[in-house]
Amino acid sequence: MSDRYQFFTQTPIGRLLVKNLGLPDPVVLERWEPGAPLVDGTVLVGGAGRLGESVVGQLDDLGIASTRTQEDGEKYKGLVFDATGISSSADLVQLQEFFTPVMRSLTSCARVVVLGTPPELVENAEQRVAQRALEGFTRSLGKEIGRGSTVQVVYVAEGAEASLASTLGFFLSPKSAYVSGQVVRVGATGSTDAVAIADVEKPLAGKVALVTGASRGIGEQIARVLHRDGATVLGVDVPQAASELQAVMGEIDGDHLTLDITAKDAPQRIARHVKTHHGGVDIVVHNAGITRDKKLANMPEDRWSSTIAVNLTAPEQITRELLEQGLVNANGRIVGVSSIAGIAGNLGQTNYAASKAGVIGLVDAIAPTLTDGITINAVAPGFIETKMTAAVPLMTREVGRRLNSMSQGGLPVDVAETIAWYSSPGSTAVNGNVVRVCGQMMLGA
Ligand SMILES: NC(=O)c1ccc[n+]([C@@H]2O[C@H](COP(=O)([O-])OP(=O)(O)OC[C@H]3O[C@@H](n4cnc5c(N)ncnc54)[C@H](O)[C@@H]3O)[C@@H](O)[C@H]2O)c1
Repeated sequence: MSDRYQFFTQTPIGRLLVKNLGLPDPVVLERWEPGAPLVDGTVLVGGAGRLGESVVGQLDDLGIASTRTQEDGEKYKGLVFDATGISSSADLVQLQEFFTPVMRSLTSCARVVVLGTPPELVENAEQRVAQRALEGFTRSLGKEIGRGSTVQVVYVAEGAEASLASTLGFFLSPKSAYVSGQVVRVGATGSTDAVAIADVEKPLAGKVALVTGASRGIGEQIARVLHRDGATVLGVDVPQAASELQAVMGEIDGDHLTLDITAKDAPQRIARHVKTHHGGVDIVVHNAGITRDKKLANMPEDRWSSTIAVNLTAPEQITRELLEQGLVNANGRIVGVSSIAGIAGNLGQTNYAASKAGVIGLVDAIAPTLTDGITINAVAPGFIETKMTAAVPLMTREVGRRLNSMSQGGLPVDVAETIAWYSSPGSTAVNGNVVRVCGQMMLGA
């Protein structure tokens, strides 16, 4: 779906109007292409905490050039600030001291990552206050930085210092083009272990990935990106979508299974297929979803129930069946697809928002119980350009597109890249997170 306004803003007259009238300025976001460097430029590392040195080493392992000294006239593609040493509100001035002089030295589509300690895990109240303050700082910076740049805070638990590579690689690269203003925890729940990635080009080589709703839209893109990263994909979709599913899976040498995930025996059939054909599964992505919008006053029971059944009950039951049968391999990854509606709510979507908030509940409930390096996380997409959003009335669509820090909708690949980061063998310490892929939408926190 083309964004005609964005196209117009790239023309000479469009540029003039954007500048003089202060109109939204949706810059063309950089997205990663196979063969390109992960970060096309230098990352400046600042701050004095427990992470700085290991960050430099991990960036080096990823092939990302970094420096700890700001040079006059130098442009930076990324900034990493180690704020773990900030232990009181007075110390927060270190943020201003580091960032203010360097803000004009950033390239477009630059990346900023502030590293902290999870506030709930520090014992000292003053330090907890100061660490929590990092969220407000990063969210505001995300709203003012502009030019397609992004800002996140990554809270790193004690013991997880060496487990940052996959997370830094994602948030410093164009793979996180449409993710901004997010708060991520590494090592706060479950394992803090660092797992080395054997093959950087194909980090998912040898892995089997189950993707529901894989015949089109976001699910198709998830399947393609996981395949790009080396996984064998088992795509699942309804019988009505069988030919599209087979076509997509044929292109990526994948396997397919057609069934309705709400069928009573669906969890058992999926488990049987996974066991018989693949011996187990490494990545499970619960992407299949439907909307059946109506204001609650007019909501028929079937619209309510079908939405909850597809979006929430099926992911719950499939997850339970695969875990109970021991079919999720060690270092396995489970990913739920929530929605911004599940966080902020949306008119006409009480059923959908309940189901998508429930997906976050599933992550909260299961994350602390997992062993063997298995993780569960969720993505919460905002406005993503798909057939689903193309059908939204024009004015609502325009509002959805523009009311975010990027002034544009995201692409299915942005959701897929976020899932690929969760799925990486290097993300064992990334458990229990919900990351919004929404260009820092103004709705919700
Ligand atoms: N597009 C967006 O802007 C957006 C925003 C937030 C969240 N999401 C979520 O992302 C996911 C994918 O959305 P999309 O835009 O690609 O939707 P889509 O309608 O294009 O694709 C959904 C896929 O799920 C499949 N599916 C539906 N019911 C199924 C069932 N019972 N059993 C098996 N497969 C079933 C469909 O056949 C389809 O292939 C959904 O969970 C959706 O709620 C999308």
